[in-house]
Amino acid sequence: MKISIIGTGYVGLVSGVCLAAKGHKVICVDKKTDIVTRINNKEATIYEPGLDPILKQVVSNGNLTAVDNLRYAVMCSDVSIIAVGTPFGNGKIDLSYIIGCANEIGQILRDKNSYHVVCVKSTVAPTTTDTVVKSILETASGKSIGQFGLAMNPEFLREGKAVEDFMSPDRIVIGAYDDRSFNVINKIYKSKFKAPIIRVNLRTAEMIKYTSNALLASLISYSNEIASICEETGGIDVKEVLESVTLDKRFNPKKGAKLVNPEMIKYLRAGCGFGGSCFPKDVKALISFSESKGYTPDLLHATIDINETQPLRLVRRLEASLGSLQDKKIAVLGLAFKPDTDDMRESPSLIIIKELLLKKAKVFAADPIAIENANKALASDASELSFCADYKQALQDADAAVLVTSWPEFASISRDEFVDLMKNPVILDGRRVYDKSIMEEAGINYIGVGLEDVREVMCNE
Ligand SMILES: NC(=O)c1ccc[n+]([C@@H]2O[C@H](COP(=O)([O-])OP(=O)(O)OC[C@H]3O[C@@H](n4cnc5c(N)ncnc54)[C@H](O)[C@@H]3O)[C@@H](O)[C@H]2O)c1
Repeated sequence: MKISIIGTGYVGLVSGVCLAAKGHKVICVDKKTDIVTRINNKEATIYEPGLDPILKQVVSNGNLTAVDNLRYAVMCSDVSIIAVGTPFGNGKIDLSYIIGCANEIGQILRDKNSYHVVCVKSTVAPTTTDTVVKSILETASGKSIGQFGLAMNPEFLREGKAVEDFMSPDRIVIGAYDDRSFNVINKIYKSKFKAPIIRVNLRTAEMIKYTSNALLASLISYSNEIASICEETGGIDVKEVLESVTLDKRFNPKKGAKLVNPEMIKYLRAGCGFGGSCFPKDVKALISFSESKGYTPDLLHATIDINETQPLRLVRRLEASLGSLQDKKIAVLGLAFKPDTDDMRESPSLIIIKELLLKKAKVFAADPIAIENANKALASDASELSFCADYKQALQDADAAVLVTSWPEFASISRDEFVDLMKNPVILDGRRVYDKSIMEEAGINYIGVGLEDVREVMCNE
């Protein structure tokens, strides 16, 4: 099939490359001409494991091209997949990119004689496609729905595993206005992907995506709430608690003698909180949508509140251990919101670094690939912030280290390296990757999220 993808960011580029690899003719469209040029030069504009070689292959064999000319793309294709950003701003989802894009596509459809389906892949609040997008397309094209098709096909890929997730999806959800729209979108996936195709209406497709992200985000905040209770009590390790809870066969069934260990249980772990381009904004958008309908979603509010407090709790615990943070040299290990991505959007590292700087600490941060994006995100806070080439540089003579992102190279730092490089090492393990007893044997003051030694608590009482 001939497919246009409008918006060539994380989702647009991965979708475009993967659909081209499955044999479709894909035109990726973006307003940013540097993205277009780089893709046509076979250069990936985002970091995503496995993306580079497939991109090179599909550009070379002519299955993928990039343009900044939307008219050309829509005229040459059967389907336009909208994958523009849907940020959160001013208390609600910002639909300006969706509205702009739908308006432009609508005007082009005015001049197009053959049937064309517009498919929203961006994450949007329920009713956006069947009200806002539909009405803009009808007005701009001068045509009634039916003369063109309309669908909503949410994307569930995870950054860092985006290619794998797109190529082997768990399910493909297609919200369709009518049978004809469904049949076109179904043809993109049917027989090319081994996954159940779930047909629903437009607003159900939108709700499935929000519900999925809100559930995962809630599990993380739930785990962090339990971690805080453990910290306040002392002598309880949240890691032991959550690991035991997730051995329940309802979470972790056995296949033969072996535990299945479903990915879902990874969300039941305490840490620095969730970040990235999706969970925070999507939960906030669902809250705002829900309230616009007159319902206050208390659980979702708590999910966000806990998440925003969690990085600050970590800094407070560091302060409790070190005393005043003024002029203390703090190494921050990890900037990206999770390993295997350079995405800094809403990363907990941003809150942690800003709080450390507010307390007049000197921050030395390291990350294998996110430094460039971190530099942009933290440019205005830069005076006492240094980005380091590697963890060794960040740890050199540091008073404390905060592990924020569990990159393998950080998780495998040995206790001897900490001792050799740092002053009187204090390690705040925001992801629980180090072994407390091994660290303590070497004289390291170890602070783990969701773990407070009962002896300290009893001394304080
Ligand atoms: N990033 C993820 O992991 C992920 C996963 C699932 C769903 N989503 C959803 O997918 C959507 C896109 O997310 P993203 O992270 O890829 O966004 P992004 O910001 O990385 O990319 C959006 C791109 O759209 C381009 N753009 C905006 N308006 C345009 C227009 N009118 N014409 C052409 N190009 C235009 C921008 O220049 C930008 O390159 C969002 O709704 C997001 O919530 C994202």
